[in-house]
Amino acid sequence: MLLNRIDEVRAEVKKWKTEGLKVGLVPTMGALHEGHLSLIKKAKAECDKVVVSVFVNPIQFGPSEDFDKYPRTLDADTKLCDSEGVDIVFAPTPAEMYGTNSNENENSKLERLSNDILTYVCPPFFYVNKLCGKSRVGHFDGVCTVVMKLFNIVQPDLAFFGQKDAQQVIIIKKMVKDLNIPIQIIQCPIVREKSGLALSSRNKYLSEEGKKDALVLNQILNNIKMCYNKGITNVEALKETAYTYLTNKHELDYLEILDKDSLEEKKEADENSIALIACKVDGVRLIDNITFGGF
Ligand code: PAF
Repeated sequence: MLLNRIDEVRAEVKKWKTEGLKVGLVPTMGALHEGHLSLIKKAKAECDKVVVSVFVNPIQFGPSEDFDKYPRTLDADTKLCDSEGVDIVFAPTPAEMYGTNSNENENSKLERLSNDILTYVCPPFFYVNKLCGKSRVGHFDGVCTVVMKLFNIVQPDLAFFGQKDAQQVIIIKKMVKDLNIPIQIIQCPIVREKSGLALSSRNKYLSEEGKKDALVLNQILNNIKMCYNKGITNVEALKETAYTYLTNKHELDYLEILDKDSLEEKKEADENSIALIACKVDGVRLIDNITFGGF
């Protein structure tokens, strides 16, 4: 069932709750791929009812980012959700989510949203002032704000997030802990193409050649983990191994090896470490990561 209004979703979920059913939420920005599908399947396996939200959240995009061109494929997304037995696809408009006036032009509304009229959930500086948060200032404020709103609207028992956006899941888990939100966060493994490329809605922007060049992210991470497994634990030495893979087709944003829960820096890697990379390929900013133990 496709619903666009908050009160409609609330009313449905309320019925489920009175029947004592377990509700799962899979928050997405649409353009669903196998990665999302794995979250949906996990949610279906663990919950009685599943809500998938499809909302390209304007407040998590910077002014020069790809909000306008972000792929919007609601019809296909809804069909896919239906075939997976999703109970509700919640696809609100920005006006429904943020209560903007329809007589203003869209851009001025968004500027006002980010600057002065909206209550935000701001995750701690220590967690956002690194990795993606460094180049995407305000991004995680936008993510936490919309996720908190979705949590309040759907009130799920469980919410499912992909490990590809590792910093996002860590920050959401921190928010849930710090704000005593009674929702269990389920972290699901990265889904990859056969080539090793991590699935992402932004892969749609890549040319065929760009797709090949993008394999470097996974190669760098696999090589780091292989070196670690061979006994190299010094973080700087592990990071050094990346440079043999990078060419002038790759614009490295960051390569870090941090603690997988606290995002603290370490001199020596261990089973609790995670290597994370962001790199522009073919003009597209891609991210990927690998954990040294589990997650
Ligand atoms: O990971 C995403 O697609 C988005 O950041 C999320 C969690 C749906 C919030 O808009």
